[in-house]
Amino acid sequence: MVSVKKLNKIAAPTSPGALKLVMFGAGELGKEIFVEAQRLGMECIAVDRYERAPAAQIAHKSYTFNMMDGNAMRSVVEREKPDVIIPEIEAIDLDTLIELEKEGYRVIPNARATWITMHRERIRELIAKEAKVETCGYTYARTDDPEEFKDGVEKIGYPCISKAIMSSSGHGSYDIKGEGDIEKARQWAIKDARGEGSRVIIEEFIDFDTEITELALRHLDEDGKIVTTFPRPIGHYQIEGDYHSSWQSPKVSEYLPWGAESGREDEGLAETAERKIYEAAGKITGALGGVGIFGCELFVKEINGEVKVYGNECSPRPHDTGMVTYISHIQGFNEGGLHVRAITGLPIPAKIREVDGREFRVFDPIAPASSHVIKSPSEGWDPQYRGLWNALSTPGVNIYMFGKPMVYLTRGRVGIVEERMGLALALGENALDAKKKAEVAAHNIEMRTRQVHEWKSQDQAHDGRKKHLFRQ
Ligand SMILES: Nc1ncnc2c1ncn2[C@@H]1O[C@H](COP(=O)(O)OP(=O)(O)OP(=O)(O)O)[C@@H](O)[C@H]1O
Ligand SMILES: [Mg+2]
Repeated sequence: MVSVKKLNKIAAPTSPGALKLVMFGAGELGKEIFVEAQRLGMECIAVDRYERAPAAQIAHKSYTFNMMDGNAMRSVVEREKPDVIIPEIEAIDLDTLIELEKEGYRVIPNARATWITMHRERIRELIAKEAKVETCGYTYARTDDPEEFKDGVEKIGYPCISKAIMSSSGHGSYDIKGEGDIEKARQWAIKDARGEGSRVIIEEFIDFDTEITELALRHLDEDGKIVTTFPRPIGHYQIEGDYHSSWQSPKVSEYLPWGAESGREDEGLAETAERKIYEAAGKITGALGGVGIFGCELFVKEINGEVKVYGNECSPRPHDTGMVTYISHIQGFNEGGLHVRAITGLPIPAKIREVDGREFRVFDPIAPASSHVIKSPSEGWDPQYRGLWNALSTPGVNIYMFGKPMVYLTRGRVGIVEERMGLALALGENALDAKKKAEVAAHNIEMRTRQVHEWKSQDQAHDGRKKHLFRQ
């Protein structure tokens, strides 16, 4: 298990005694972990399966190999002897990670939590049985047995969703609306799973009012004890099972419990929702253990004046919807910065606040804010972007480009899923205002690649207008 001590002194990066981080997976979320670690003077070593991955571009050193190769992982760790190993993606060789932890390396948050959260059955059982947080109805079925699959669907009822047991970003998932979809869902789990499609979880469809991510943070307090701090819940929506826009506000009644666009507000119910969100996230992350930030995905629904919060899943690392904290939190304390501080034993100053009759350690955003993804409708090498003046001329708006060297498009269950190339961030008067600003800025960016010469904005992407405020 992780042993983390309070960190009080540090040596210059690449010098003897430098504090070294090795990160497996070097995407955009990892890039921000490294930006913050570099600001604090830590040494950053990135690993990914392709050259010029976002975090590798700003690391002190980088390695390129497939992280399912345990020998290559061990080779880097033994050479670099890091103080902290950060698994930033799920597709890594777990046996090696478990061994390295046994040998005394600090794996974030710990090897067991990484093993649990990469698998839908393990994390669901932890949420429902160990943490005792309410979930939707669910069952499991094998995909090589059509009868068992059909029985599972009928047990849960329509509509329901089948999800490959080990996968991510919606891969291998299928919405089952009626009997006609059962066979398609079974085939899709086998064909599209990124990991393992031999079994599925079949879930009752929850017609939630809004879905949120709670970025619960486990870290050391002044006494060196592990405590949990709760940033304000993050509202978001998904297109094709992929995050598209997220928001956060100091005033949660702007988006809880019914969502930012509902036009409804009730401070009492919002506070109850907030309390239930912190309680659920606290129980789930307590059961996973270790230190660091966790993205707890929860569904919120109001039924006859009662707020229900359902646990969906949880990942032990910064979360894509949490990128809104790049603008909503004070400088140095976005989700990447919070993660760095938690995993290295640095302090997280927080407030104690009473929420609906219970005290929590909370971390407040500075203002209502939103993030909106910038996705390339075109595939190919050497992406180019234009429209920066349009996007950046509004006060309170910023653009982050991840610097990816090429664009891949993948096929989702309904259509193409475009790759995320950057992000528009906005502050606003309230969550809805910030959402509109971020959306406009993101859609002002046009892209082209070496293969596709025509400039296109993401309006031309598959479902480029779905769920948007201005562009339906
Ligand atoms: N039981 C459910 N009822 C209603 N909507 C659901 C349910 N399960 C999933 N969804 C919707 O589908 C989205 C993706 O589902 P989920 O997070 O379980 O899958 P995922 O493939 O692991 O996604 P990611 O890894 O990108 O978070 C959810 O954010 C939610 O919008
Ligand atoms: Mg999810």
